Amino acid sequence: MVRTAIIGGTGVYDPRLLDDVREVLQETPYGQVKISIGKYQDIEVAFIPRHGIKHSIPPHLINYRANIMALKMLGIQNILATAAVGSLHFEFKPGQYVLADQFMDFTKSRANTFYQGGEAGVVHCDMTVPYCPELRKALIKAGEEKGLSVHNGGTYVCTEGPRFETAAEIMMFKQWGGHMVGMTSVPEVCLARELGICYANISIVTNFAAGVTPGILTHSEVLDLMQQNIEGARCLMMSSLKYLPAYKECDCARILSEPGVMK
Ligand code: HPA
Repeated sequence: MVRTAIIGGTGVYDPRLLDDVREVLQETPYGQVKISIGKYQDIEVAFIPRHGIKHSIPPHLINYRANIMALKMLGIQNILATAAVGSLHFEFKPGQYVLADQFMDFTKSRANTFYQGGEAGVVHCDMTVPYCPELRKALIKAGEEKGLSVHNGGTYVCTEGPRFETAAEIMMFKQWGGHMVGMTSVPEVCLARELGICYANISIVTNFAAGVTPGILTHSEVLDLMQQNIEGARCLMMSSLKYLPAYKECDCARILSEPGVMK
């Protein structure tokens, strides 16, 4: 049974990181999703390229609900999601990996819940610890094993995009405690939580954010840096699979059944 899925962000489009790949078209109430399923050393893993295989879907138009619902319908319990980010701090350098432990949400126009009222109900989901600590632990062990430069924790600032930020916005995010900036982790992580799926973010630093260093930002600079670091990200995720515990102590799946959760 396939328990773990990878959502590949910018630059991570290719399911050939897996063996014996087959494709499944999963119908959901939000649309159809193509999922690749393959094996890594006998462990089955599902894969969705978030932006489509040709990077044709911009961050604000991704069908986040369809993707997450499709993975839930497949029985997925763990999501490892890569994301290209700009860094707000000199300690987080291009080419390094950061496992987000918090986010700040500056998105504006996205469908961000499965619970739209009426028959679907109203749910206020706890997000105190948004990213699964157990998945993070497994990724940290994998990073140590492989000698990769992985920061354990950082606050991911999610902007609406598709434009990059102004230098003033970045200065504000930094003063407010942000560490890196990207355009996709929200609402993905929130939707996973609403369905009780553990979710980890693997941020890949592709650039210093606007105004942190002189000069302008280009998408090709982001893609070039990603290209150089895809192999490390793959290696990190694949090596973490063997460390994922069958029984997890985290609260990710329990939160929705807590009596304190308003439904
Ligand atoms: N800002 C927003 N998203 C990004 C960046 C950035 O600087 N780099 C890669 N994704």
